[in-house]
Amino acid sequence: MTNWNHRHILDLATFSFEDFTTVLELANRFKSLPNKGTRKLPVLQGRLITTLFFEPSTRTRSSFELAAKLLSADVISFAVSNSSISKGESVLDTAMTYVAMGADALIIRHDSTSVPEIIANALDEKGLKTSVLNAGDGLHSHPSQGLLDLFTLANYFCPEEPLPSSLCGKSIAIVGDILHSRVARSNLWALTGCGANVILCGPPSLLPEEFEAFVDSPPPGQNKDPIKKRGKIKIERSLKKALQAADAVMTLRIQKERMNQNLLTDFDRYYFDYGISHEKLKWCDKKIALLHPGPVNRGIEISSELMQDSSICMIDKQVSNGISIRMALLYLITAINPSQKIF
Ligand code: CP
Repeated sequence: MTNWNHRHILDLATFSFEDFTTVLELANRFKSLPNKGTRKLPVLQGRLITTLFFEPSTRTRSSFELAAKLLSADVISFAVSNSSISKGESVLDTAMTYVAMGADALIIRHDSTSVPEIIANALDEKGLKTSVLNAGDGLHSHPSQGLLDLFTLANYFCPEEPLPSSLCGKSIAIVGDILHSRVARSNLWALTGCGANVILCGPPSLLPEEFEAFVDSPPPGQNKDPIKKRGKIKIERSLKKALQAADAVMTLRIQKERMNQNLLTDFDRYYFDYGISHEKLKWCDKKIALLHPGPVNRGIEISSELMQDSSICMIDKQVSNGISIRMALLYLITAINPSQKIF
């Protein structure tokens, strides 16, 4: 295993190709473990993982908690609805309360951009060793989702060796509500970082032209791009052309809760133009994989029939790969010696 030097995992813009490889190699080893009998590995025994979700989640929270338990860590699950946030306690004071209880990692989701980073900086300033893992902040970043999507694609393109190199030169279409999607942003860093070219497809209101330059320079506060040569991003408004050029397509949830400027009002029209169905996949001259981070609005982003077709639709595989990826991330940030041979 190469050197791992990320104590916090906040954004995939900071990942090198070697970092992507380390995570996928480790996830693949966890995925290869038998899933019956003695399932738990004792590698994080005595470590405490806390999930702090200030925004709803089904997949991310449950799979982080399951991943921690499969590595024998202890888990505390914070629920905002019955917490002291309702009495006026701040998010930072809440996080520090769990640090004082001995948390080795805080897995944080918040609807405001940068909350995980602010907490990570506060921990660093105090010299505290607790790690922060961003489980989705506002429109900014969802690193574990970007990594599980990368792992799912690597498994699709090269099941015998699902590594980032299998993405090099591939074309991945990302369709839909790019504007509101932290998943799209994390995927842009991950996919281009592994040498894939990305075709973004959606209506102008949900896909501004600026996205074509999204990875041209590192985000504010980051001096240097750790990737020497990234794949390219191209905008294609026609779904037919995007699908025809793609080796795989990822479609995104229409985020109705963030649609505060009437950016999209006619969902039937959206399905007609950008929804993915068996009929539209017939435009392609080869079979392509379909991904969606979930939760899905059936009949808006994907037809119900296509969602049931596991020969094309990778949603269940994304969910199960998410457990292996999150085991890898928790292991890398909280194991006492992540370089030791564990199995
Ligand atoms: N993909 C994703 O983040 O799903 P949840 O909101 O259910 O965690």
